[in-house]
Amino acid sequence: MDKQAELDKLKQAILDNRVTPELAEQATNLVMGDGNIDASIVFIGEAPGKNEDEQGLPFVGAAGKFLNEMLASAGMDRSDVYITNIVKYRPPNNRDPLPEEKKAFWPYLLKQLQIIGPKVVVTLGRHSMEYFLPDMKISQIHGQAKRIQFGDEKIVIVPLYHPAAALYNGSMRQTLIDDFLNVPLIIKKL
Ligand code: URA
Repeated sequence: MDKQAELDKLKQAILDNRVTPELAEQATNLVMGDGNIDASIVFIGEAPGKNEDEQGLPFVGAAGKFLNEMLASAGMDRSDVYITNIVKYRPPNNRDPLPEEKKAFWPYLLKQLQIIGPKVVVTLGRHSMEYFLPDMKISQIHGQAKRIQFGDEKIVIVPLYHPAAALYNGSMRQTLIDDFLNVPLIIKKL
């Protein structure tokens, strides 16, 4: 089966297994991901917001615009990478995803990564970082490449601040921009 067919099957499994039914009930779309399914780099955010829920695509609102700008400054385009979230339905009123919602989606995120097979996973914010790098603090490790065992292979995780958190916070914004510019250098060294 090709990758797109496998991803379609994964989406159907989320629907069939009624993952987070309360979120599903209120959502317009199940937001699986966007970009290049053959990418060697995958970005993982937190959960869709209002715009993402309406359009069925991740990172298309203000945080997405900032993400696009940082991708461009690092010499990348959305079509070079794959972008998704740990939680794939919008939490009501943009509240933080609950621990049980992240837990419910985690096996599907792992499967999604197995299908795509990236070399590098960039987590955006602590919600998508915490399962890959448990017990670590984003303020202490942001921008650092961490090699972890992933199934039979090793992959590199780069934890970054979340673009929405950094958007209006001067010092965090600059830190995120600086960390982002370092990502292509991390990939080059692999
Ligand atoms: N914030 C996220 O974490 N994900 C999105 O898709 C949009 C905003």
